[in-house]
Amino acid sequence: MILDGKKVSEKRLEILKERIEESGLYPRLATIIVGEDPGSQLYVRMKHRACERVGIGSIGIELPEDTTTERLLETVARLNNDPDINGILVQLPLPKQIDTTRVIEAVSPEKDVDGFHPYNLGRLLAGTPVYAPCTPKGIMTILAEYGIEIAGKRAVVVGRSIDVGRPMAALLLNADATVTICHSKTQNLADEMRSADILVSAVGKAGFVRADMVKEGATVIDVGINYNENGKLCGDVDFEAVRERAGAITPVPGGVGPMTIATLMEQTFKAAERKAC
Ligand code: GUN
Repeated sequence: MILDGKKVSEKRLEILKERIEESGLYPRLATIIVGEDPGSQLYVRMKHRACERVGIGSIGIELPEDTTTERLLETVARLNNDPDINGILVQLPLPKQIDTTRVIEAVSPEKDVDGFHPYNLGRLLAGTPVYAPCTPKGIMTILAEYGIEIAGKRAVVVGRSIDVGRPMAALLLNADATVTICHSKTQNLADEMRSADILVSAVGKAGFVRADMVKEGATVIDVGINYNENGKLCGDVDFEAVRERAGAITPVPGGVGPMTIATLMEQTFKAAERKAC
């Protein structure tokens, strides 16, 4: 079974559009991008386009590559204090002179629709989440949409980043999976991966997950965004080989990626709803 993230995200965006219309609310998202990275610019443009589609207002703030931490913190503070803004998204990565941790911690937790603030990560770890990072939350939505059982299953997450691996593990644990996080120092990695009923790869290496590392019938979630030797977009998983063994698998493109944006939209609406009540 192919887990079609594009299709699920389209469906979720349509439902969200109706919910926003019915609510009478006009949620607003502010994005901040520092520098000229074309990849980041593309992602931010896609987020603004999604906002327009569902009826969320968006403002984009573009700051120069040589922006200081202090200047960025001032911008975040202004958005925190703006009652018309419900969600704030600081596009990562930031240029190296900027203290990313200070910036993430400066975003008001109520407007942290990206779910990266330690308050929101703490709530997630405590099992009482408010906003969760959009990529792993979007993966939980795909699993739910396809009726893939999580409770009691063995889940293995490869990668321990703040935006994917760690929150993914917390979300799976909150859904009663037995969770293992693997990383670059893990011993017998292939054995760990083969034990997974649900395998999530967030490594960033094309061809990293081979068929012999996947249990027959497992659900394989590919979070990788890589380019192969022909310059073609691909994930971490050797898709053609692994799909023969897996019970369900996300493609790249059209798997996890679209769900990240749909989740951002849902969390921005949630921020507007929470403010309204
Ligand atoms: N850079 C890559 N993915 C993301 C994301 O989900 N949120 C933000 N803010 N930056 C990113």
